[in-house]
Amino acid sequence: MVASQEEIHAKYGGIVPEVASRQHLLSMIPVINEALSAASARWDDLDAIAVTHGPGLAGSLLVGVNTAKTLAFATGLPLVPVNHMEGHIYANWLENPPSEFPLVCLLVSGGHTGLFLMKDHGDYTYLGSTRDDAAGEAFDKVARLLGLGFPGGPAIQRVATPNVPSRKKLPRAWLRGNDDFSFSGLKTAVLRMVEDGRLENRDPEEQVRTVATEFQNAVVDVLTTKTVGAAARHGARAILLGGGVAANLFLREVMAQRSPVPVIVASPRLCTDNAAMIAAAGFFRFQAGDRADLSLDVHPALKLA
Ligand code: KG4
Ligand code: ZN
Repeated sequence: MVASQEEIHAKYGGIVPEVASRQHLLSMIPVINEALSAASARWDDLDAIAVTHGPGLAGSLLVGVNTAKTLAFATGLPLVPVNHMEGHIYANWLENPPSEFPLVCLLVSGGHTGLFLMKDHGDYTYLGSTRDDAAGEAFDKVARLLGLGFPGGPAIQRVATPNVPSRKKLPRAWLRGNDDFSFSGLKTAVLRMVEDGRLENRDPEEQVRTVATEFQNAVVDVLTTKTVGAAARHGARAILLGGGVAANLFLREVMAQRSPVPVIVASPRLCTDNAAMIAAAGFFRFQAGDRADLSLDVHPALKLA
């Protein structure tokens, strides 16, 4: 049960925080009721209420946390705080749970891009993150530049033709010697590629396809190379992918080709934001005894490790 705001945000070309929190407020109670009825569940069938308390947009987080606190107070159910990025990791426990640790987790969403070593449930070591744009943010910005609309990731995936080598390649920021990423330089390079195409009088549709393909190739190349390298260095038993960009079919394919260990990734609809993944992470937090009281607050910059 996902209440999507994509159509509304598409009109603005991206997420406007005030619009997002207002939509949260409108959808929250109806979607909770729908989910309960779809599951044929009543409040007294539940063991706990899990809620995202960060990271994210403060206004949207506030709507969720205050709804969860109110429901916990009214029902007497325990309140379990969940980190949004940990939710992306635990989306994988809904379908295809990893059987062994350690895992190297690549988390790629609209707001975050990071690599973590996961040694056990809830045990994360930070390896690296983006120094500028998140991977999803780069997809969204390049899609806007190409006139492909919002959200950019699925739009770019639709027009890109992977595995087709072209004459021009976009640069990759390798930042050697660490596990960090950088995607902001790509935007400038894409802009230049678009300008060159215009000067050369190329067919606009073919041009959009070429740029989208080369952009997707560049992002996937860097994400894959760095993740596979980190997995080897840390003796990971598997690579785990999470976050909206993990829905990208080309990323999934190339990661599986290049990784010597299994690649664990959920169905695309469980990679993009959903409440089931928060419930999955909440389940493990609940078992570990994590509880919040009614003073629970939002943490827009909450860290995983
Ligand atoms: O995790 P998510 O749903 O929301 C955040 O927590 O940010 O990620 C959303 C991001 C957007 O930037 C969107 O363009 C990207 O994930 N995304 C994709 C695909 N589907 C969603 N990027 C590449 N390929 C996709 N198929
Ligand atoms: Zn997310």
